[in-house]
Order: sequence, then structure tokens, then C-alpha cells
Amino acid sequence: MATLRTLVRVLVVLAAVAASGAFLRRPRGLKHTKPEFWMDSVQLARLQGYAMDMHRFFTSDGYEVALHHIVASKNGTLGGVPVLLGHGLASCDEQWLARGATALVYMLVELGFDVWTVNYRGSFYSRGHKTLTSRHHDYWDFSWHENGVVDQAEAIDYVLQATGRQKLVVIGHSMSSTAQVVLLAERPEYNDKVMGQVLLAPPVNFEHSTGALAYAGKVLLNLPGMKESGTENVQNDVFSGFEKPFPQSCYPDHSGVNPKLFPFCQRLIEFVLGKVHEPVDPYQMQMILHHYPAGSSIRQIRHFSQCIAAGKFMQYDYGKARNQALYGQDLPPEYNLTNIRTPTYLMYALGDGSVNWKDVEIFGKLLSPGVLRKLHRLPPKDYCHVDFLIARDAVELVYVPVIKYLEELRSGAS
Ligand SMILES: *[C@@H]1O[C@H](CO)[C@@H](O)[C@H](O)[C@H]1NC(C)=O
Ligand SMILES: *[C@@H]1O[C@H](CO)[C@@H](O)[C@H](O)[C@H]1NC(C)=O
Repeated sequence: MATLRTLVRVLVVLAAVAASGAFLRRPRGLKHTKPEFWMDSVQLARLQGYAMDMHRFFTSDGYEVALHHIVASKNGTLGGVPVLLGHGLASCDEQWLARGATALVYMLVELGFDVWTVNYRGSFYSRGHKTLTSRHHDYWDFSWHENGVVDQAEAIDYVLQATGRQKLVVIGHSMSSTAQVVLLAERPEYNDKVMGQVLLAPPVNFEHSTGALAYAGKVLLNLPGMKESGTENVQNDVFSGFEKPFPQSCYPDHSGVNPKLFPFCQRLIEFVLGKVHEPVDPYQMQMILHHYPAGSSIRQIRHFSQCIAAGKFMQYDYGKARNQALYGQDLPPEYNLTNIRTPTYLMYALGDGSVNWKDVEIFGKLLSPGVLRKLHRLPPKDYCHVDFLIARDAVELVYVPVIKYLEELRSGAS
């Protein structure tokens, strides 16, 4: 029974994750729903009275990466310390805007920070490529390793060049924290470009992972063709025939939830993310689920799965032959956290179903002396992976302390 339940859960999670490929056909402007459900980042910002520009560049390996930049504050403060925010797995920067007026990005802008958000390759805004299209198999041959050493690195360079600054601050949520840590470990010179980093629910250590990724990982690693062939089955369009990603169906209309689907949805959400902080705001749920998922490669998921299976924070496992060719050894090398010198603030929650709190504490201990500025455990037990974005009290519990850490970094007083 328990096994069956696990199997059903695994299948549902896989379906939901794979459905992120359906994002390409995201329907827009449906009459029966609220317009903001279908707005893009620039429109979402405009709705709150902010002008936002989109910037695009090609990475050194040919991918088009889109950044959004809030170009004016209401308080008239401009041109401050740049802050770069990255998004989670299968997400895009709409995750920072979906909660509306009380979003962290607007708070930062009003305090004089210069706010930029990056969309990693493969996500909704970043599907371009010099020679490939997102219909090509090879387009999807990347994981969060490339999101870190290329996308994040070159986004940082882009922002520093655009602002004429020497350093910026990085805020990561979930997978973008992983990418950021990969960058600092693999290309230590980037420590000199980052004044400090605040990582929310960072998946970096994988000794205690129990959540959906661990389950999905077990299945993914055992599907036919998945084991050895590192470059096979990387394209994530299994469910592209669906009109909408699955999760949106849970919160379909004005009135709130779909009563038939809701109990099922709630269980799924809790399984993937952990117990959502009560009271759940149905509108916030609707918003985030209409702006998620935004696309991912299978390899991003598999890379997490491999780390979870091995209990190690390591490079992608392509199998012996390609590992030997790439790394000069049978097994993928681990990321060297000793290379991180950037002042680091970690924020995490006990109830997070995707990132185990013990693993965040271990990550903090693995950092070199003096690097960890704050290990910030959130007080409520039932704060989950997405509550950092949607919880009503995220302003007091998450954003106010994040701002305090950024002020510390900005003033150099810490
Ligand atoms: C922005 O300006 C308004 C009006 O002057 C002021 O009330 C508010 O406190 C300012 N906000 C911040 C975050 O400084
Ligand atoms: C990790 O990096 C540190 C310094 O950045 C270096 O001294 C150490 O040898 C590295 N460890 C490994 C296993 O490469």
C-alpha cells in the first residue's frame, strides 16, 4: 500500500515536472481568468507601477539569456548597488513578481538597490540560441552546472558592465542558489564580483533529501535509456500536448479552488514542497501556479537526483566513458566549497519538503571560516519551499531580514 502510494506520488510528480515543457504553449488572455494570471514580467511590474526593461545577451556557448531590470523607483532612488535575483527549478523570474505589491524586488528598489532578475537557459524568456532551437535535442543538454558557470557568470558580468559597478549582491532561491554556489566553487574569480549572497532554501548539500526530487530521481535514474546515456532524453517536452501545466487546474477561477481537485492538489503540493504555511492565500496560490512551471531540462532534475543518490554535491555524472573524457576520472568531481569567499547568508525552513534543513546547516558548516555571516532558520515549522515567495508573512519573516543583510553588505559594516 505504502509502495503503491509512493509510486502514484512519483508518477504525479513526474507528470507535474514534465508538464513544465507545456509552458511553451502557455495560453494567454483567457477571458474567464484574471488578466494578471497571464501577464509577463514586464506587465506584472507595470501593474504595480514599475517600469521594467528586458535585456538579452548570448552566452559564450550560444544560449540567449534574458534579464529584467526595474528602471525606476517610486521614491526616486536610482543607480544603487546592483542586486541580481535568480529563480528555482523549472521557474522563471515571474516568481519574484507574482505576489504583487509586497514583492521583495519592489522593497529593494524603494531602498535604492538596482534590481535585476535573470532567466536561466531553458526557462520561458530564455529559449533562444545562436544555432539551435528549443525543439532540438541538443538545446536541452545542460543542467544547473551550466546555469552557474555560464548563465549566472555572464549575467553578473552583464549587470556589472551595464551599471559600471565592480560588485553586486546575489539573491538566490532554490536552484539559483545551487547555480551560484557552483559558479563560486568552479570559477573562484567570481568571488571578487559578488559583495555578498543571500541564499534562500539552497539545495547544496544532499545527505538528508527525502522530498519529491529524491523520489523523482529514483524513477528518472531507473527509466530505460536514462542510466548510461548522459545526452539522451534531455528534452523536456513529454507533456507539451497539454493545454496547461497541471498545477494550474487546482486553482482555476476567480472564486478560488476547484473543490474536486483541491484535496489531491494540496497533497501533491505538500509532497513536493512541504506543508504550506497557513493560512494559505488562494489568490497567491493561483498567481504562482499560473506563472509556474516555466520550463526545465531533464538534466537539471537528473543532476539533483544524482547528487541525492550519491549524497554528494558533485558535477554531472555522464557515465564512466564521458566522465573520463571530461573529468579525467570515472566519477564526477565534487564541487569545492573551500573556493567560496563571498560573505554568505543562508535562510531555510524546518518544514521545507524540497530542501532538508539539516543539509542547509551542514552546508553552512562546510564553508570556510568567516564566510558564513548568518544561518537564519525561519521560526514557523510549516514554512515550505514556496512560502519564501507566496506566504502572507514572507515580508516580515523573509524580506525584512534579507533587506537587513543587504544593508549590512552595502554599508560594509558587517
Ligand atoms: C518611499 O517614499 C515614501 C514617500 O516619500 C515613503 O513614505 C516611504 O517610506 C519610502 N519607502 C522607503 C522604503 O523608503
Ligand atoms: C579546494 O580549494 C582549496 C582552495 O581554494 C584548495 O586548497 C584545495 O586543495 C581544494 N580541494 C580539492 C579537493 O581540490
